[in-house]
Amino acid sequence: MIYLDNSATTKPYKEVLSSFLTVSEDYFGNPSSLHNLGSKASTLLGRAREQIAEILRVEKDEIIFTSGGTESNNLALKGVVRANRHKGNHIITTSIEHPSVYNVFQQLKEEGFEVTILPVDRNGVISLDALEKALNKNTIIVSIMHVNNEVGSIQPIAEAGALIKKNSRASFHVDAIQGFGKVSLNISESNIDLLSLSAHKFHGLKGTGLLYRRKNIPFRTEQRGGDQESSFRSGTENVAGAVSMAKAMRMVRENKEKNEQLECFRKQLTEYFSSFKGVTIVSPPIKGAPHILNVSIPGLKGEVIVHALERDGIYVSTTSACSSKKASTSRTIEAMGFSFQTNVGSVRISMSHSTTQDDVQQFIYTWNSVIPTLMEGIKKS
Ligand SMILES: Cc1ncc(COP(=O)(O)O)c(C=O)c1O
Repeated sequence: MIYLDNSATTKPYKEVLSSFLTVSEDYFGNPSSLHNLGSKASTLLGRAREQIAEILRVEKDEIIFTSGGTESNNLALKGVVRANRHKGNHIITTSIEHPSVYNVFQQLKEEGFEVTILPVDRNGVISLDALEKALNKNTIIVSIMHVNNEVGSIQPIAEAGALIKKNSRASFHVDAIQGFGKVSLNISESNIDLLSLSAHKFHGLKGTGLLYRRKNIPFRTEQRGGDQESSFRSGTENVAGAVSMAKAMRMVRENKEKNEQLECFRKQLTEYFSSFKGVTIVSPPIKGAPHILNVSIPGLKGEVIVHALERDGIYVSTTSACSSKKASTSRTIEAMGFSFQTNVGSVRISMSHSTTQDDVQQFIYTWNSVIPTLMEGIKKS
């Protein structure tokens, strides 16, 4: 099997699984319990928090453990707007956000918030001018993703952060779920107030994630309970999940040099597709994330390509995994201005630190042997 669907999810590292197992077996106490087993669990949770804070270069009290990216995004956006409604009613995001941001904005719109959705250009990137124009004294939050999950476009987060800080009182939230470990981002230099991560995108476990919340950012959570996680996320902590996420983050950091290799794979694939007649490259040809390449064969359906490659053991996907079972087109590709046919025919190849040169070669070999036959069908129809 050649797995090139890493933006949907990555295979957990063995070391991550083993740390989860060890903590679950040997330190299963509830961190809130007063006895020895509880305090051991609490110590482990604290250590995971410190390690993660050190990696992100933030303070440990600024980390809120969650169940993953969707929860982190919901918590961030709702937490800020609920606490700041008296300051203003205007919120800003982009047209290419993951549904866990985009649909929250739709929900907030229904609740009466005024929503600005920033468009993107052909490369899937927002305009800083448009952002500057959209900001006003009533803006309370701006949410911009770092790396797009479908096409790999990278947003100018540091520049956006500087503009937001200069021109408004808004908090700045970044969905950094696809970029972590692959595309660098400095939280404090980018004036980021809230940032979401999800461990299963970097060889950690599903159901584990975090929200960075800069201290002193006004925040109100809906969830009531035992006041864990500084009262921002009640519920017994997933200690084994947090420890295993810290492990995955450390391993990703140690493997940083593999990003150059990913860059090289992406270049090879881009060159290959550029000379393959009938293929449109949807991802930004340069300056895209090193692990994501979206291409299309207008006239075919993405799902047909996915299943044809799958028969030969190659796993890629149509748009994002969360929506790929629905027979719909990609909002992101539409926002970039591509035609309906290009949208329908798109597939995403997404790599990870575990992808090898052999995988890329085998992918190209299979594409060469499978796709031309499928394309014959377009000419006949
Ligand atoms: C950019 C982005 N944000 C949020 C999410 C949701 O993360 P999770 O699957 O951990 O809920 C995803 C998952 O595909 C994503 O790619």
